[in-house]
Amino acid sequence: MTGFIVTGTDTDVGKTVFAAGLSQALRAAYWKPAQAGLEDETDSDAVRRLAPDAQVLPEAYRLSTPCSPHEAARVDGVTIDEAALTLPQSDRPLVVEGAGGVLVPYREDLLAADLFARWNLPAILVARTQLGTISHSLLSIEALRARGIAVAGVAFIGEEEPVAEGAITRIADVPHLGRLPRLDPLNADTLAQAFAANIRMDLLT
Ligand SMILES: Nc1ncnc2c1ncn2[C@@H]1O[C@H](COP(=O)(O)OP(=O)(O)OP(=O)(O)O)[C@@H](O)[C@H]1O
Ligand SMILES: [Mg+2]
Repeated sequence: MTGFIVTGTDTDVGKTVFAAGLSQALRAAYWKPAQAGLEDETDSDAVRRLAPDAQVLPEAYRLSTPCSPHEAARVDGVTIDEAALTLPQSDRPLVVEGAGGVLVPYREDLLAADLFARWNLPAILVARTQLGTISHSLLSIEALRARGIAVAGVAFIGEEEPVAEGAITRIADVPHLGRLPRLDPLNADTLAQAFAANIRMDLLT
């Protein structure tokens, strides 16, 4: 299996938008293992809208409450079973989007990074450029590497912040995969264009 895990320093950093751009660029199969929160547009729906040439695979778990998967599962009376969280088969490269950040619990004894380690795909860390990102990014990279997960690089979202971006990538010795600006409007065309102009796909192949 080839592909990438798209993780982030936090919830709401832009993982889905980045994963959509990557899925479109790779004509990939996109998989969200566990979707927590079904009232608003789901991550899979956003990828369908933003990456028309990607194939969106069904989530293993669709949980109603927008919170940590372990708690969303408890509310729905569901037990998350890692047997249901094996990588789906696909003849396309896989883009797998984790929930929230690197140590988000799927159960109290099963963290996101534990699953990433089993899946054995390199991880891309999506990080904000704003204040606070240096420590959050370095912590995330340490937690990934502590489990033997290869870090393919950091992709930044937001205004250019060369000091923070440079510090993270030099201190962690990790590739800078580029920076997506905030797009307005954000749609499949503007994302594909910004992705091609700003993201170093040459570092990901
Ligand atoms: N480059 C961008 N340009 C414009 N809007 C963006 C960009 N990146 C993210 N957003 C917006 O910011 C919000 C959060 O982004 P996104 O859903 O990608 O975050 P996430 O990390 O996937 O969150 P979650 O942890 O819930 O999966 C969304 O409304 C999204 O449309
Ligand atoms: Mg998301």
